[in-house]
Amino acid sequence: DTRDPTSLRTPIVAVLGHVDHGKTSLLDKIRGSAVIEGEAGAITQHIGATAVPLDIISSIAGELVDPDDFDLPGLLFIDTPGHHSFTTLRSRGGALADIAILVVDVNDGFQPQTLEALDILRRSQTPFIVAANKIDTVPGWNATEDSPINDTYESQSDRVRQRLDESLYEIIGNLSDEGFSADLYWRVQNFQRNVGVVPVSAMTGEGVPDLLTVMMGLSQRYMKEEMEIDVAGPGVGTVLEVKEEKGFGTTIDTVLYDGTIRSDDTIVVGGQNEPIVTDVRALLQPRPLAEIRTESRFEKVDEVSAAAGIKVAAPELADAMAGAPVRVVRDRALEDVIDEVRAELADIAVDTAEAGVVVKADTLGSLEAMADALGDAEVPIVRAEVGDVAPRDVSVASTADDGKQKAILGFNVDTLDDAEQRAEIEDVEIFTDEVIYQLIEEYEAYVEGIEK
Ligand code: GTP
Ligand code: MG
Repeated sequence: DTRDPTSLRTPIVAVLGHVDHGKTSLLDKIRGSAVIEGEAGAITQHIGATAVPLDIISSIAGELVDPDDFDLPGLLFIDTPGHHSFTTLRSRGGALADIAILVVDVNDGFQPQTLEALDILRRSQTPFIVAANKIDTVPGWNATEDSPINDTYESQSDRVRQRLDESLYEIIGNLSDEGFSADLYWRVQNFQRNVGVVPVSAMTGEGVPDLLTVMMGLSQRYMKEEMEIDVAGPGVGTVLEVKEEKGFGTTIDTVLYDGTIRSDDTIVVGGQNEPIVTDVRALLQPRPLAEIRTESRFEKVDEVSAAAGIKVAAPELADAMAGAPVRVVRDRALEDVIDEVRAELADIAVDTAEAGVVVKADTLGSLEAMADALGDAEVPIVRAEVGDVAPRDVSVASTADDGKQKAILGFNVDTLDDAEQRAEIEDVEIFTDEVIYQLIEEYEAYVEGIEK
């Protein structure tokens, strides 16, 4: 075998933004364009992700992208659905996503989840660009399907152009208020220092060529070294979601960012208590052309290489946590791999105090983000865990001496019925929200009420 064992993997692109601002539509548009180009099969659907190879990007982007200028194989887009915070997409030492697209509706502007996404992009130091979406809704807009932004901009009336400019400058102003120096993407020289804003429409495809061009250029210019992986090596990834799947039991939707996973591998997965050691039973991908995230029928595959989204079915996964590491053992000593997973878990563990509030969150990444934000607000934490608010959380909270610490803050989680009843009896307050800073504000307002 003369193959070079190291090769360049696909950069992982998180698509994030406030509810309904057009994340999924943008990915649908990119998929749709490939279908029109007669290349439907070339875009592969993954679990929770869409892989777009370089030649498709180049055919959508037209003259904006010359494939000879690039050696990265394409882009892997991860959609973050609904209120599900993309805080899941964190892994050891930063973000799981290499790069991100923050989608902002030009009419709606900055919203709570836009701010939350920015906060996490800042904390994880993830490079990103802003897609100012829905430009076709500017009154009087004259659409040219799939056109680069410059061409369509030229064909608008002065009035329309002025209205679009106003919306775009408002977004640039909002970014600046959040501490990001931003400008329209064609004015940005250094994308590491400035955030580029790309006007797009997921509906008409206008600006999509520009968006893909900027993402590709940004990855090639600043990420290339990080994309060098040992493709044949044992796989390394992060759990995106833990899901029950008919006929397969508990499965983990995983983003693989290094190496390979095979259907006969032994893996180690971060669990609620101890690292879980288990044998892969099946590796599952959506069937071709199936709808992302609504897919219930899968295709079994023997092997997957990074970067990829893959559903892993294996016994013993009930305690697996979203945001936790996944590592393939292969030819290594099992104990070493368990130690690696344990070290990664310790790295994302939250420091707790003797007394404080109880924190629950949907993923390890969001738990960490909550802990960071509570740290800034000088709120101590007595217990922090992934999972829904359960009766034992109420028991812990009820033992607080300080009334304002008889509280549970749940981010993106549900409250179990018996926990709710118990909280009422024990006089414990439960706060839940889908936006971190709102959750903390609610809690602070409550504390203020007590102290008055
Ligand atoms: P969540 O997954 O719920 O967070 O929403 P999302 O960000 O994925 O938004 P989605 O793509 O589902 O779009 C929300 C609505 O906006 C849908 O009705 C889309 O048709 C519409 N929409 C999205 N992009 C555009 C656009 O560029 N122009 C217009 N006119 N409508 C758009
Ligand atoms: Mg969506």
